[in-house]
Amino acid sequence: MSKPCIYITRKIPGELLEPYKDTFEFHMWEKETEPVPHDVLLKEIAQADGLLCMLSDQIDEALLTEAPRLKIIANLAVGYDNIDLDAAKSRDIIVTNTPDVLTETTADLGFALLMATARRIVEASNYVQADQWENWAPYLLAGSDIHHKTIGIVGMGRIGEAIARRAKGFGMSVLYHNRSRKYEAEDELQATYVTMDHLLKEADFVISVVPLTSETNKMFDVGAFQKMKSTAIFINISRGATVDESALFEALQTKQIKAAGLDVFEKEPIRNDHPLMKLDNVICLPHIGSSSEETRTIMIKLCLENISAVMDGKQPKTQV
Ligand code: NAP
Ligand code: GLV
Ligand code: GLV
Repeated sequence: MSKPCIYITRKIPGELLEPYKDTFEFHMWEKETEPVPHDVLLKEIAQADGLLCMLSDQIDEALLTEAPRLKIIANLAVGYDNIDLDAAKSRDIIVTNTPDVLTETTADLGFALLMATARRIVEASNYVQADQWENWAPYLLAGSDIHHKTIGIVGMGRIGEAIARRAKGFGMSVLYHNRSRKYEAEDELQATYVTMDHLLKEADFVISVVPLTSETNKMFDVGAFQKMKSTAIFINISRGATVDESALFEALQTKQIKAAGLDVFEKEPIRNDHPLMKLDNVICLPHIGSSSEETRTIMIKLCLENISAVMDGKQPKTQV
């Protein structure tokens, strides 16, 4: 019997494939920083039994129609808004993601971005780099305090709670909003459940950690930014499309809110002519939430374990 064929849409370290090389026939797009062209993916998916894909790959109905043998889509991300779940389900294709293993790493980045935005770290580094530092001054690059302020976490899930634990260490008050209450988190973190309106009005830092769904699409719109304090700092580590970017631009430019730190964008990648890149009070990162060497390796291993389980007719660890 021929070995099951697994297609990997981006170059990943060969040593991680070693343990499976007698079991599977791997085909891989050999570029690390460029996505697989659509025509190549179409051709490869036609013979694939398993797919290991990136959050930047759109796995839609049209593609799955060309994948008669496919049994599993293992997404190298916890978010799976890039995959048409209904189309996969109707073809009995299992979808897996990478929850938990990236929670703390992503929370680290979220908190780092919050701190960098509040204390103007990037601007300050650029200032020294540009040789503009002539003198010390009382209000030189003065930012906003973080400690003992109020953080509003929109999406108190795995990552949201890990953010709350960090916030607690800084003496912050934690407000959160979800569709449902998390009583355990409230006890452990002294977090307070509030309506979205209340959170937007009261929080000094508003951080988005919700999954992208039809409900959360553009939930941060003109009205949301109008409700925030003029001193509020907005952080987005969820998905770009949870934000109406032109409304955010307007709110930042007119000083309706103070600053923003963004790891994700409506359409990625952005270029440096993106309107949000023109503002001093914005930090833009290239979607690196879970990007530590350790965590990315663990995520890849988890995807391979999930693929291997499904090929063995077993339940994968982290099915969506
Ligand atoms: P999770 O544990 O599922 O948490 C998501 C939270 O959002 C849940 O508490 C959920 O609570 C809440 N939520 C869902 N729909 C909502 C709605 N309509 N309104 C309000 N709250 C809602 O997921 P996670 O592991 O923390 O990951 C969250 C998201 O972070 C991922 O989906 C992904 O998009 C993003 N992410 C980004 C990066 C990055 O690199 N920047 C890295 C990892 C993850 P209820 O169900 O009670 O509403
Ligand atoms: C990254 O954005 C993820 O969803 O894991
Ligand atoms: C600053 O460096 C201080 O000593 O206050």
